[in-house]
Order: sequence, then structure tokens, then C-alpha cells
Amino acid sequence: MFVRDESDDHLAAAFTERFGRRPEFIARAPGRVNLIGEHTDYNGGLVLPIAIDRQIRICFAPRDDQTINLLSSNFNQNASFSLELPLSKQNKYFWVNYVKGIADVLQRSRYQTRGFDGLVYGNIPIASGLSSSAALEVATVLAFIRLSGQSPLKPLEVAKLAQQAENEFVGVNCGLMDQFISASAIKGCALKISCDTMVFTPIEIPADLAIVVANTKLNRSLAGSAYNHRRAECEQALASIKSRLSNRFEIETMNDVSIEAVAAAQDFLPPSLFRRIKHVATENQRVAAAVEALADGDLSSLGQLFNASHNSLRDDYEVSSKGLDQVTSLMRATAGCYGARLTGAGFGGCAIAAVEASKVDRFISQLTQVSTALEPTPEVFLTRPVAGASVSEVR
Ligand code: GLA
Repeated sequence: MFVRDESDDHLAAAFTERFGRRPEFIARAPGRVNLIGEHTDYNGGLVLPIAIDRQIRICFAPRDDQTINLLSSNFNQNASFSLELPLSKQNKYFWVNYVKGIADVLQRSRYQTRGFDGLVYGNIPIASGLSSSAALEVATVLAFIRLSGQSPLKPLEVAKLAQQAENEFVGVNCGLMDQFISASAIKGCALKISCDTMVFTPIEIPADLAIVVANTKLNRSLAGSAYNHRRAECEQALASIKSRLSNRFEIETMNDVSIEAVAAAQDFLPPSLFRRIKHVATENQRVAAAVEALADGDLSSLGQLFNASHNSLRDDYEVSSKGLDQVTSLMRATAGCYGARLTGAGFGGCAIAAVEASKVDRFISQLTQVSTALEPTPEVFLTRPVAGASVSEVR
């Protein structure tokens, strides 16, 4: 059945209709937008994401056997698999692979797993760069751990298991940002995360700042896209910098590659690799500056940093697209906008704008109107920073 009413009660009723009993728990995990700090996480750099008020929910109840029965309310698709048989990727319903991937990683990491009936529902736009897959992975980890009877895992452990499933089972070589913010977010805050250590600082989002998302609805397939290639390029550049500049700079990871080292590397790196590392080094600086701008309430500077980040992703990292460039231009030209940039991996998906909160309603209606000139017409919506994933009993 398709869900028209998104309340927990309605999801519980849909579960009962499908499985003939009440669900016992609900696991929920939010999607995210990254405010700034793109393609820095897998380079050990800085990111500044928020969890958004769109989430994946799994209503579930344990079984006495080792079978997982799933219903996706979004797609009206049913799937089953056994935890006793080898788990392999399937093509029929792609979403099932996120659940299977978690089961696989948990089993290989020697966690207890137990069968369950589960209804999955999400209101995060799918395949739009808002981390619906990371949210499904995180919610699934919480569901399995809840049923194993062991004490809850720390958010970092949850995130690492979820990332491992994405890397090893689904086959996307993503960093840890998406899973980590979904598992660890703090209401009202962005997290400034140092991805070399995963140490984070909550950064309050001021009341006069609104974050508006424009979903271009343009296709972005992470696995098939340039994402893995960009990672490889960074590794290649780092190896070359280490061998050529070790006499002048102390460099272990990409995080040690300073602006000065980038300048020195221009002499020997191929131009495209030079641009990749230039983006990474300057983007780290922009994250630090954005944190300061937020602390000072200097939203104009924040907006300038958003714009500069987008330009760097477009020109140096080369992960923007015509649609993302068009929508960010429209955002910047709309009254109330401080700045706009693509968010997430890029290629397609979503852009975000930093907007004056008192003007946000008008901003959204004007942007919605001018966006009709684009094909497809983007979906524009306001978002806000919410808390990370949790699991609760169904009353
Ligand atoms: C995707 C990945 C993240 C991160 C971003 C780019 O969302 O899943 O790990 O690399 O792209 O910042």
C-alpha cells in the first residue's frame, strides 16, 4: 500500500495490514545537507553537515526465525531474504541491498542478527543527493542492534557499519560524512567534523538563517559517476606530492597538504590533479571560515563562502553540472539569498541556499516560480537541522 498519511500510527496500521500483527519498534534516521566542505571527508578534511527534517522510518517486529521480510511503502514492493544463506546483491529492488548490506556487515563483524518483519518508509527524495541511502543504512543498523538485545552502539560505530555496507556491499566508495551526520546530528546545529579523527563540534544555526533546498531532479548515479574516480585522483596526487615534496613539507595525508604545498605541486602535477587538490585545500579553509562566520552571525560572509565553494566544485573539482549551475544562479538572483551552492557529491541532485529567515517564504515562492523555466522543474523546500537517528518502542 502507498502511504498518504505519514504519521507513525498510519505506518503502524500499514505494517499490521501487511504482517497481521503490530510492529514493536520504529527506527528513524534523517537525510542530510552538507552546508559546506564537499569532497573533503574522504580526504580527512573538514565538513559542516546538518541532518534534515526528512527521514527513513522502519517499523519492525522480531521473528523467531532468521528471515527478513520487508515491505517498502514508497514503492509498494515486498522482499524477503534469509540470514542463514549467503547474502548477495540483487538487482530486482535496489533498496533491499542497503538492508542486506547491513546484515552482511553485521554478520561478518560477528554481531548477533535476528529475523524481523519490517515496513520501510521514507520522505527523503530518493537518489537526489540528500543521503536517503545512508539514512536507510543507519536505520537498519539500529533495527538489527535493537533486536540483538545488546546495548546500543555509539553513533560513530553505527556510522562506520553503515559506511562499510555502502563501500563493500553496495559498491560506492563514499566517505563517512553522510552516515555520521544521520547517526549523530544535534537538533538546531550543524556539526563541524574533522574527518581525520571524526571529532566534531556542534555549531548552532542562527535563527535568522534559513536553509532552502532545490532538488534539480537531475540524475546522479554515484556508483557509475566520477565519484570513485575523483577519490582515486586525490590518492594519485597525494602519492606524487609525498614523493616530490617530502624535503620541503611534512605530508602524511591529504589533510597535511597546505595551500603552500598545493602551489609548489603545480610545477609537477598534471593540471587536472592540481585543480583537484587545490579544491580540497581551499575548501577546508572555507569550512573553517564558514564556522567563524556563523559564530559571528556574519551571514553575508557565509553566503560568499557558499558561492566560492560552488565555483571551486564547478571549476576545480569538476563535479557540477549545467542544471546545478543554473539553479544556483537563480537562487543567488532571488531576493533574500546570501549565497548558494551544490550540496553532496554533485553531478546532479540538490543545491542549497543560505537565505535571510525573514524573507524565506517570498524567496521560496519566487524561486519556485522562476525555476519553472528549467527542465525538469526543481522542487524547492525549506529545511531545518534536526537530531540524529533513534529507535523507539511503538506504543
Ligand atoms: C557523497 C558521499 C560523502 C561525501 C560527499 C561529497 O555524499 O557519500 O561521503 O564525499 O559525497 O562531499
